[in-house]
Amino acid sequence: MEKIIWNEESWSVGHSLMDDQHQQILALINKMIEIRQGKRPKSDLLTALSLLSQQITHHFGAEGVVLLSVKMPNLEEHIKSHEQFSSKLREFLLDCNGLSSEQTIDFLVSWWTDHILHEDTKYKHLFIDP
Ligand SMILES: [Fe+2]
Ligand SMILES: [Fe+2]
Repeated sequence: MEKIIWNEESWSVGHSLMDDQHQQILALINKMIEIRQGKRPKSDLLTALSLLSQQITHHFGAEGVVLLSVKMPNLEEHIKSHEQFSSKLREFLLDCNGLSSEQTIDFLVSWWTDHILHEDTKYKHLFIDP
């Protein structure tokens, strides 16, 4: 598994604060990929998960406010996917020792890649000048 390299064309959602927060989240996801690659100890995973959890709570709150302010269509559905992810992350944190670090990391990488590239980019047009 290769580290994620953010680039404007594929990853930007058209809002600089959201892009900054996504890049911070992806930096943590990349640390987890390094754990997966054996370049960092597995014991780093719990710290990375806790930091991710804090950043994500902050990001989902901010994104919700931003999207409400531009009246994003289907916002409820978007918020629901954030909530489903947050409860999955809580499960990971509660059962960190009982889970395979590989499966946990794979899930986080694929969820974030998919969510930013396919769900968050749906709001990009709301921030681009007509
Ligand atoms: Fe989102
Ligand atoms: Fe987001």
